[in-house]
Amino acid sequence: MEVVPLDTAAEVATLAADTIEAVVAARPSAVLGLATGSTPLLTYAELVRRHEHGSAPSYAQVRCFNLDEYVGLPPGHPQSYRATIARELTDALGIAPDRVHGPDPEEAGLPTAGERYEAAIAAAGGIDLQVLGIGTDGHLAFNEPGSSLASLTRIKTLTERTRQDNARFFGSLDDVPRHVLTQGLGTILRARHLLLLATGAAKAAALAAAVEGPLAASSPASVLQLHPHVSVLLDREAASGLTRTAHYREVYDAKPAWQGL
Ligand code: PGA
Repeated sequence: MEVVPLDTAAEVATLAADTIEAVVAARPSAVLGLATGSTPLLTYAELVRRHEHGSAPSYAQVRCFNLDEYVGLPPGHPQSYRATIARELTDALGIAPDRVHGPDPEEAGLPTAGERYEAAIAAAGGIDLQVLGIGTDGHLAFNEPGSSLASLTRIKTLTERTRQDNARFFGSLDDVPRHVLTQGLGTILRARHLLLLATGAAKAAALAAAVEGPLAASSPASVLQLHPHVSVLLDREAASGLTRTAHYREVYDAKPAWQGL
């Protein structure tokens, strides 16, 4: 795992945008895995800014797979992750809506939604680069503590803490759905490169447990320790619980420029 301790959330966004653009420049038909939540918003805004400035690679052939989706929201709800990704990123990058996929939360199809999503990802050739955030309770996508480290896309129940964390996007806690469809931890491990972004002091404990703690289902993001190509980009606050920060910085500073993340 490569841990990159940066100073600010803006620096995290710049390096994340550089990394995403490098993948698309190298492979114009790249398959991107996209996360929602507050953390990637600066990165997405930076990608859109560069696209509008004319300095970005073309996204016309890119396909995207969202990490997760709420169950129980009316179709087109502005807080659905399908609507959020379109609004924050893919529409502005000129990626056609039929190239952006998410787990299908339609009620009648829920028993097969996970299997269908796994098949769609496999049919696209797998995910080249998966953007990830981390929950304050250590969740990765919506795999809450206790999730199987081998899990695939399926329906899950959110913890009270996650619903409280996400209440800011809704009118009240009662409006936050209880159920979600989420890529499993095993699904995430199949992506070729994982890019975890964490900013702010609220993430410090969960991030330290994931990066330096034991591999454990009670710390779902610790599953990243099993993946051969993980980049963890942190601002100063999110890195504040780590013990080996000086070493991570030394390794990163000594990296040859050609290597990238
Ligand atoms: P956040 O959410 O980026 O809004 O903090 C991250 C997550 O819940 O995975």
